[in-house]
Amino acid sequence: HSGMFTYDPGFTSTASCESQITYIDGDEGVLLYRGYPIEQLAEHGDFLETCYLLLYGELPTPAQKADFDYRVGRHTMVHEQMARFFQGFRRDAHPMSVMVASVGALSAFYHDSTDISDPHQRMISSMRLIAKMPTLAAMAYKYTIGQPFVYPQNNLDYPSNFLRMCFSVPCEEYKPNPILARALDRIFILHADHEQNASTSTVRLAGSSGANPFACIAAGIACLWGPAHGGANEAALKMLQEIGTVDRIPAYIAKAKDKNDPFRLMGFGHRVYKNYDPRAKIMQRTTHEVLNELGHKDDPLLEVALELERIALHDEYFIEKKLYPNIDFYSGITLKAMGFPTSMFTVLFALARTVGWIAQWKEMIEDPSQKIGRPRQLYTGATRRDYVSPAQRR
Ligand code: SDX
Repeated sequence: HSGMFTYDPGFTSTASCESQITYIDGDEGVLLYRGYPIEQLAEHGDFLETCYLLLYGELPTPAQKADFDYRVGRHTMVHEQMARFFQGFRRDAHPMSVMVASVGALSAFYHDSTDISDPHQRMISSMRLIAKMPTLAAMAYKYTIGQPFVYPQNNLDYPSNFLRMCFSVPCEEYKPNPILARALDRIFILHADHEQNASTSTVRLAGSSGANPFACIAAGIACLWGPAHGGANEAALKMLQEIGTVDRIPAYIAKAKDKNDPFRLMGFGHRVYKNYDPRAKIMQRTTHEVLNELGHKDDPLLEVALELERIALHDEYFIEKKLYPNIDFYSGITLKAMGFPTSMFTVLFALARTVGWIAQWKEMIEDPSQKIGRPRQLYTGATRRDYVSPAQRR
């Protein structure tokens, strides 16, 4: 009985599935995309190369990569009526609520995407989602700060295009910082896929009924929003801000260890990793790079994070329960330094995870043996009993 699903060896429960995309060894802290270590992909490649790898299963040749980049570029704009769709939101709407709605609304513009039996349509929908998520994410941000939408500019690389759509304004020249763009690209690689996490399982379950891919990705975004999952990056930064200074850390460690206190250290612990999250190590290094580039190397939030990690990793509670920092522990400090508000942190996680969701969705749809998902349950309710009329109820 693990979490939401019940495993019964006698049944091939939908809670477990076969996949060839991502491998995690939680005890060793290993993460492979199609067999390649995350450390090498983050070091040597770019996010669109990782997208190609996750979708097609192999690293692209230079010609395949150039063609893939060009094809993604052809889909970066959204239908102009999407801009009017945004006008219906309150300006103070959380950007994740806007993303759930607008990504789901894409299916209103691409009726042909509902034909999931057509391999060409499946690939086109995958490209549309990878290409349009940055545009929609930037629109969600611009809408909530009352600035005009910025159209994509395809002569920029993927992360620079996104940074420009978020931070440029019509009245000023904007040149994306290549160091920040490279750091953001690496953050996207780290978040691209992660085996059968809650939001990926949501996308698979939604897709198993034959729902169109845009609706399935909207379901994944909804699940990712929770603070126990992708929402942890926003929650972790708010926790670091609330702690504020190093001397206040022991009180929070005590709260996290108190069984009667629901408080948990945001950005710590993981369903699978019972060792250091390999992404967190790369994330920490990226945080230092970005803060140095921006001249914030003495950021008090980083000082609190490093001291909190040091104390926790030497505390018997965290050691015994194998609680280590996960990817969400450092990502917020980096994204905040880049200029993103905390409300955009999980949006960026969703932007990057879209390729993992859609690659897993495609793998499931293309598996001839797949059936509609139907998690099993262990019934623990009332046994059969007869109806009691209202007059006889006590
Ligand atoms: C992501 O699944 C994925 O792959 C997700 C993800 C991805 O890429 O898709 O990696 C992204 O969601 C990372 C996780 C982000 N969430 C957080 O940082 C929120 C804080 N973490 C916890 O909510 C928790 O660690 C979970 C939800 C992440 C994991 O939950 P588990 O596996 O159910 O952990 P657990 O409850 O089994 O932990 C074992 C013990 C428990 O104590 P006991 O009941 O055994 O006494 O450790 C305790 C927990 O209470 N514990 C914590 C803790 N996390 C677990 N105690 C204090 N602080 C924490 N953060």
